Amino acid sequence: MTQTMDAVSIDWAELKRRAEDVRQRAYAPYSEFFVGAALLTAAGNIFVGANVENASYGLSLCAERSAVATAVAAGEREFVAIAIVAPGNKPITPCGMCRQVLHELAPNLPVQCHGALGGLLETSTAALLPHAFVPNDLGGKDL
Ligand code: THU
Repeated sequence: MTQTMDAVSIDWAELKRRAEDVRQRAYAPYSEFFVGAALLTAAGNIFVGANVENASYGLSLCAERSAVATAVAAGEREFVAIAIVAPGNKPITPCGMCRQVLHELAPNLPVQCHGALGGLLETSTAALLPHAFVPNDLGGKDL
């Protein structure tokens, strides 16, 4: 018998709440730009991440990659949606590095970007990273 798993429904309000909540725990003493991310997996779990900065500025870890690492470390690699909350009105979108990292495991992931003061941008990893470099490209034989 084939077992089918019910698709997980996306509770965007809950994802936003979790991202907003974890944002308060970001370690961002240099930029004071506190970012939170909440990643929903196919198993129905939510993994959160916050940015973690460093006195050696270039080592800073973004909220999105922090959430991905936490999910993967827990054994989950199937992602269903991500919500990000950052300061201000204007929703910010994931940086280039995070786009590539999210795209690796979730090439068509719905993404909600929230400004903590209210702005919202809805997009996807596919839209954020056109012509992505993908795992299959490592074959490279036809290039
Ligand atoms: N940052 C994130 O955590 N996610 C984003 O989508 C954009 C930027 C962090 C990195 C750094 O700690 C701070 O925001 C300012 O760039």
